[in-house]
Amino acid sequence: MGEYTKLFNAYLASKDYSKPPVSLYEPFPYILKNGGKRIRPTLLLAANQLFNGNLNDALPAAMAIELFHNFTLIHDDIMDEADLRRNEPTVHRQFGTNNAILSGDVMMVYAYKELAQSPNFKQSFTLFSDTAIAVCEGQQMDMDFEQQENVSINNYLKMIENKTAILVSCALQLGAITANAPQHLQEAIASFGLNLGISFQIMDDILDVYADKTKFGKKVGGDIIQNKKTYLLLRAFELSNVEQKNELNSWLNATQFKESDKVNAVKDLYEQNNVLEDAKQKAEYYYQKSLEHLSIIEQEDYNTELFRKFAAKLLHRQS
Ligand code: IPE
Ligand code: IPE
Ligand code: MG
Ligand code: MG
Ligand code: MG
Repeated sequence: MGEYTKLFNAYLASKDYSKPPVSLYEPFPYILKNGGKRIRPTLLLAANQLFNGNLNDALPAAMAIELFHNFTLIHDDIMDEADLRRNEPTVHRQFGTNNAILSGDVMMVYAYKELAQSPNFKQSFTLFSDTAIAVCEGQQMDMDFEQQENVSINNYLKMIENKTAILVSCALQLGAITANAPQHLQEAIASFGLNLGISFQIMDDILDVYADKTKFGKKVGGDIIQNKKTYLLLRAFELSNVEQKNELNSWLNATQFKESDKVNAVKDLYEQNNVLEDAKQKAEYYYQKSLEHLSIIEQEDYNTELFRKFAAKLLHRQS
């Protein structure tokens, strides 16, 4: 997989977004060049190769996906009031919120320009657009849930499917489309991605509380401070006794607090109810489910070993 990431990084490095007005384009190299795991473009290129495609046909779609992803991160950090990403100040902290909004917008338009160079553009365009709509819907659910009591686990799963998993699924399907894979195999690789994406977001929720800050590159505890309805929090509510529920609620309703006090208190309630183990099991469940969809592809003699290994690595990642 590392080879695909390298190839993608070389393609990205060949793009020059340094044009006027400087304040519109400065955030491009700032966010694009400063790392990120490149999961989505890597998976896209790998899916193209799995189905014997031509990598040159897949690179623009990979670029489209990574541009779109980074656009969502810029706007997500404004919405989540996040100061740190990939160990650097977030775009809106570095360049101001207005610049971050418009740079993000134009980044999305560049994503579409890249996509337009893809073979089978009509199908790719429809898939990409439906995906972008789903991400916005998921993001809005995520924001609405901050204010909402009694979010169900099912609604949480629907939210993360939209905000995160559908984009992972889309990346894989675009890889298959650029290789002219038949519909049933496109669907199988997309379903692998959907379940992997759900597992990925549950792990992201876990890392937000339990990661090592320097490895994670984002603020640890940010979700707790923002009252994000993560899997951990929802399970803590389900498992808590009346007294613990009251304590959780009083932290969710608190308006003035020292951030570390809230994070430690909520973490303590997580520990009392063993929700970390519970969340890990849920992530593992969706990881296993993702692998089942690979079996369908294997039955037709394609070798999906790389995808199995990559999925396992994602499940055990530290950032
Ligand atoms: C962050 O995605 C947003 C989520 C969906 C959790 P990544 O964890 O893939 O972010 P980078 O691109 O590697 O920084
Ligand atoms: C990511 O959700 C979803 C999108 C960026 C669309 P998060 O808010 O959990 O992502 P991070 O943790 O800030 O990367
Ligand atoms: Mg965020
Ligand atoms: Mg968010
Ligand atoms: Mg997160």
